[in-house]
Amino acid sequence: MAAVDEIAPDIFRITVMTEPDQDFTTSFFVIRDEAPTLVETGFRLSFDETRQALSRVVDPSTLRYLVVPHFEGDECGALNRYLDQAPHAVPVASPIGVAVNLGDFALRDPLPVDASSELDLGTHRLRFLITPYVHTWESMLPYDPTTGTIFCSDVFIGPEEGRAMTDADQTEAMIETYKTVGIFPSRAHLDSALDKIEAVHPRTLACHHGSVKTAKIGTYLQALREHDVTGVTEWNPMLEPPSR
Ligand SMILES: [Fe+2]
Ligand SMILES: [Fe+2]
Repeated sequence: MAAVDEIAPDIFRITVMTEPDQDFTTSFFVIRDEAPTLVETGFRLSFDETRQALSRVVDPSTLRYLVVPHFEGDECGALNRYLDQAPHAVPVASPIGVAVNLGDFALRDPLPVDASSELDLGTHRLRFLITPYVHTWESMLPYDPTTGTIFCSDVFIGPEEGRAMTDADQTEAMIETYKTVGIFPSRAHLDSALDKIEAVHPRTLACHHGSVKTAKIGTYLQALREHDVTGVTEWNPMLEPPSR
């Protein structure tokens, strides 16, 4: 059964629990407001489980915005399932995300947003950081200035340790994870994204994998700046020459 935790005022984290021997979780977020909003949707295959969890917070048929930070199964696999049940819901993505992915994939016309956009949800607001190649071409990160929450998608991922929120320093495990999986193609793009994140002074990092971080945010930013977490890794040997 998916877990539901309030991680900021009227912002809830819905997490699909992993097997007991795994420490890596996938979460998405629901903002309970006049315009109920999902940030990420989770996988299509976990839709029944996550929809049930979501319905403990808002009526899924009332969803207004479905925000897609980038196009992957864990970010938006269930998008069309939710659109199908929410007649007034609009998918939201970066301009490239709309042009190359959601304009074709989504059941309903998507809304493109950029750094000048703001969605008024009622009490909360959403603005957007455009962060190309962190970690896909069309990536963007939504944030809510009213609670200081940034929905940081695959930035600052890490272990779960069974806690929805943590104020501990988990930077060591975060760096090890990035060195293994290799999802950031370029230092310049990562630094640009970190600059944009730092500039909005987030108080909560609503991580899509691992616990939500509520403290030591400067430490997490510094760790990603100081360690070599970009390029090719053992797990992701993109530049290996093809065998002949
Ligand atoms: Fe991703
Ligand atoms: Fe992810």
